Amino acid sequence: MSERAPEGPRAEPVTFIKKKDRREFLLRFGTGAGIAAIGYQGAASLRSLVPNVSYDAPTTVKVGLPGDFPDGLKFLPDLRLFVFREGKIFHAISAVCTHLGCTVRAEALPQAERRSVGGQELRLTHRFLCPCHGSRYEGDGTNVYGPAPKPLAWYQLSVAPDDGQLVVDLAGEVDNDFRLTVA
Ligand code: FES
Repeated sequence: MSERAPEGPRAEPVTFIKKKDRREFLLRFGTGAGIAAIGYQGAASLRSLVPNVSYDAPTTVKVGLPGDFPDGLKFLPDLRLFVFREGKIFHAISAVCTHLGCTVRAEALPQAERRSVGGQELRLTHRFLCPCHGSRYEGDGTNVYGPAPKPLAWYQLSVAPDDGQLVVDLAGEVDNDFRLTVA
């Protein structure tokens, strides 16, 4: 009679172990990816509750002391803005053509004229021409020729309380009866 070797724990086949490991790995990976996706979604939902901070350029801009402005017109190219001064009285007109947004050019009138604008007398020293498609505007910004559909915008001016500079509000369009009188 031959003796049989005592039976030990039977080793599982290698292929079975590999399949089991792979299944476990895929299960864990899938669970992890699911949790990450839910976390991301949650964070995005919370973020949507926080108001967005605007990094746009401010619309109110200091443009200098009143004394820096000559009588007549001064063009501020960065703002595409004309600031007019007549003694202590100021007003500002946009240089942005109301047709397609080109910058209009100021052309000095041969002779300044006085006209009632917005119910108040105004001395007009210039008129405006658009080099793109030929629109023309009078000195108060009224469109008189070409494809421009409306007058040039007038913007609100004020005096900064801290240093006395003129401040233009590029989001603050005003009617053409606006005048700022500086003390
Ligand atoms: S953009 Fe000024 S006329 Fe067209």
